[in-house]
Amino acid sequence: MPTEIGSPDAAAALETRHLSRRAGERVLVSDVSMQVSAGEILAIVGPSGAGKSSFLRLLNRLDEPTSGTVLLNSRDFRSIAPRELRRRIGMSMQTAYLFPGTVAANIAFGPRQRGEILSCAQVDSLLERVGLPGFAARDVSNLSGGEAQRVALARTLANEPEVLLLDEPTSALDETSVRGIEDLILTIVRERQMTCVIVTHNRAQAIRLADKTMVMEAGRSVTIGPTSEVLRVG
Ligand SMILES: Nc1ncnc2c1ncn2[C@@H]1O[C@H](COP(=O)(O)OP(=O)(O)O)[C@@H](O)[C@H]1O
Ligand SMILES: [Mg+2]
Repeated sequence: MPTEIGSPDAAAALETRHLSRRAGERVLVSDVSMQVSAGEILAIVGPSGAGKSSFLRLLNRLDEPTSGTVLLNSRDFRSIAPRELRRRIGMSMQTAYLFPGTVAANIAFGPRQRGEILSCAQVDSLLERVGLPGFAARDVSNLSGGEAQRVALARTLANEPEVLLLDEPTSALDETSVRGIEDLILTIVRERQMTCVIVTHNRAQAIRLADKTMVMEAGRSVTIGPTSEVLRVG
């Protein structure tokens, strides 16, 4: 296996090595090797059906690779219990899958599964972080799309993940909400030196957010590098 050399940086926070997944005859993800450092945002772009979501789902083991693997801080993810892995690698989807009830109950859900009770102050502070102060007691059925997406982000952040996986988090939102969520993502990643992988069909969004961009086609990574080079900005 080729080793990346020449970089004086610390080891990648998240790395894939020859990551692949087939479903029957179908190749969903094919031999994808990439690295993202802490504090870095990687955008994944490519046509619909290219395997972007399939790739993302492999990263926190929602789906099982058929070959290749993922390293989290240089550690093979197969040696990390799936539940622990999904706490450390949080995911937010295109549609905010909130369950019926209050905003607070949704945010406290992850920690509660691990036997940790979030205090009201902790819930409030997470809500402030995502720009929804005072929303704790609101019923999720009354939220706008942008608000629901923020709650979904707060719920993911409640688990204090090291890696944030975002699958087209703004594609269902209007332009104003899109910019708000983008600012939020940038702030969160900078503040916590998190590692972020965001799937987007929007090149302008990749340019606004991502340090690195990977282009996927037919399950493969066809290009990966600095966003400005990959998307030929300027
Ligand atoms: N579990 C599955 N079994 C078979 N085919 C699948 C499965 N999941 C996704 N696909 C197919 O794999 C391809 C890649 O899908 P997906 O990862 O959702 O692409 P993208 O997110 O880039 O639009 C698509 O053609 C999709 O229909
Ligand atoms: Mg997709």
